[in-house]
Amino acid sequence: MIKRVRSWWNGEQKQQTPAISKDNIPQHVAVIMDGNGRWAKRIGMPRIVGHQNGMKAVKRTAIAADELGIKYLTLFAFSTENWSRPKDEVDFLMRLPQEFLAIELDELIEKNVQVRMMGNKEHLPSHTVDALTEATRRTENNTGLVLNFALNYGSRLEITECMQALGREIEEGKLKPGDITPELIENSLLSSGMPDPDLLIRTSGELRLSNFMLWQLAYSELWFTDIYWPEFKKEHLYEAVVEYQRRSRRYGGLK
Ligand code: FPP
Repeated sequence: MIKRVRSWWNGEQKQQTPAISKDNIPQHVAVIMDGNGRWAKRIGMPRIVGHQNGMKAVKRTAIAADELGIKYLTLFAFSTENWSRPKDEVDFLMRLPQEFLAIELDELIEKNVQVRMMGNKEHLPSHTVDALTEATRRTENNTGLVLNFALNYGSRLEITECMQALGREIEEGKLKPGDITPELIENSLLSSGMPDPDLLIRTSGELRLSNFMLWQLAYSELWFTDIYWPEFKKEHLYEAVVEYQRRSRRYGGLK
């Protein structure tokens, strides 16, 4: 069945999308936004043009997620491995959060969105951290969509640092090894306070997790598309959610 959905930011009613059951919307969607460079190459432009257009897809996706009633949207914006890229590209990527928030923060506030950042802040430029800290502070009392940027994020580093922190607590006598439970680990990760992603989307045709939320994705539904991230539109998100709703989640049990 096809239904018409009202477009939220420009008031137009022209988008045709597949029917989505309102009863089974994924609470948390995580996205590996891949293919910016290949998209730019395809149109004969430098890689940064791909990232610039990737930023536009971030806005479209946040709006579409909010419209659908998704509560958490985590976007993999920069990995702990991305530092190995050429300095110009890294510098450009580090300016994007600032640029994005300068343009969009007022509207995000108006739409009741909460901005968050998940990652290691230590090696990030201060202008990047300051922009995200300011946005987090200004949106912390909002109650709508949580827009969570994974920036300088790597799952192995996250788990390693979590283990180190728990190890220190054992050393100080505050914790016994037997006190370490999956719940304690979950509450000690950077994603603490958020439910695990129900749905992971990866664009660009690559079929891997690339060190993204390895603990948290244990029982997530995975959805891959050949579309490059700058081309990602609300109909792709809808397509992913429709597919999610067809899946039977058994968590290792029986239906
Ligand atoms: C992977 O594509 C993408 C990234 C490493 C950067 C993702 C960043 C954005 C989409 C913009 C983020 C926006 C904000 C507001 C933080 P790639 O460059 O590896 O593409 P390729 O595999 O085709 O080379």
